[in-house]
Amino acid sequence: MNILVTGGAGYIGSHTCVALLEAGHTVIIVDNLSNSNSETLDKVKQITNREIIFYQIDVTNEKAVDNIFAIHDIEGVIHFAGLKAVGESVEKPLPYYYNNIVSTLVLANACQKYNVSNLVFSSSATVYGDNTVPFVETLNLLPTTNPYGETKVMSERILTDIAMANPSFSVSILRYFNPVGAHESGLIGEAPNGIPNNLMPYVSQVAKGKLRKLRVFGNDYPTVDGTGVRDYIHVMDLAEGHVAALDKITAGVHIYNLGTGQGTSVIELVKAFEEANDIKVPYEIVDRRPGDIASCYADASKAKRELGWIAKRDVISMCRDSWRFEKNNKDSGTSLWLSR
Ligand code: NAD
Ligand code: UFG
Repeated sequence: MNILVTGGAGYIGSHTCVALLEAGHTVIIVDNLSNSNSETLDKVKQITNREIIFYQIDVTNEKAVDNIFAIHDIEGVIHFAGLKAVGESVEKPLPYYYNNIVSTLVLANACQKYNVSNLVFSSSATVYGDNTVPFVETLNLLPTTNPYGETKVMSERILTDIAMANPSFSVSILRYFNPVGAHESGLIGEAPNGIPNNLMPYVSQVAKGKLRKLRVFGNDYPTVDGTGVRDYIHVMDLAEGHVAALDKITAGVHIYNLGTGQGTSVIELVKAFEEANDIKVPYEIVDRRPGDIASCYADASKAKRELGWIAKRDVISMCRDSWRFEKNNKDSGTSLWLSR
């Protein structure tokens, strides 16, 4: 199929483009490069030995998006483009609502106009709020604690309403748990700007000596060792989940958790990283981070049952691949050298 991938130069999008190309699809990437760079696309070409079509445009720009649909015979859309920093969304809600909601509206509109009936949407486990684990797709969604999470809930609602009104429209809503790791080549991975918010890139940068020590946010949660528990999923498993979702897409709205179903605590992840890479990761326990929940992991049985997809890579592979990319990635966080 000819797949339009919005945000395809980003972390999850670039890995998914590798999986799509390897599955024989053609990809047309649109990205405004606000949180990525075009070198990543060269790496995707290098890994797959396939050509990709790329447009540097903003997905909120209706005319530019319309033009892409007019030029290409698009058969499916995967919508990754969006802003994703939880903390920043509390400080600056307007760009989050604008970017994440308007991009979804513009794409859905173009799909209708050009009779493109397959759309896969990047959602997040954050939509479950502080529900009881494991999170299953049928749970009532609880309020999230941040505008970013609300944009995901609203986008899910918008796409659901459009699909209800248009019975031939097929929407797959994929709720990701905690994507980590990198392509096994070490050529592409997660390279956040500034000081990382997320655990795995922070751990990698501590291991490299760019950051002094990891701050573990709280050890008094009701979990195995008191630290927060998450469902870490290898980004290549996540990428393959998108290919499975496209392969099996049918009319209507289908919501799938993409996780492993296994919870790992912060301390367990640090120990796994040390073991996988034979390197020390100094850490200290500090106060809880506001907005964090104790535990978040998936009931991933629906994706297995309906898509025939399961996450295959374990936490040790996630740590090994994250570290391989970090070692190769000379640019990440250089200005932060030992700043913390
Ligand atoms: P990312 O920032 O690496 O990738 C997003 C890409 O979209 C970037 O390349 C950015 O330049 C681009 N972009 C942003 N706004 C755009 C716009 N208006 N027009 C065109 N391009 C635009 O993020 P990611 O981690 O790859 O996340 C991809 C998607 O998955 C996002 O929708 C995110 O909310 C969702 N998600 C991510 C996580 C995670 O932990 N990484 C978890 C759950 C859901
Ligand atoms: N943590 C630390 N120290 C750090 C960073 C994180 O102890 O420096 C802890 C957190 O307290 C939490 C765990 O590591 O217990 C994971 O935190 P992340 O920031 O890596 O991930 P979150 O679960 O908070 O959120 C991530 C994405 C969200 C997405 C969510 C889906 O950032 O966008 O996963 O589950 F919605």
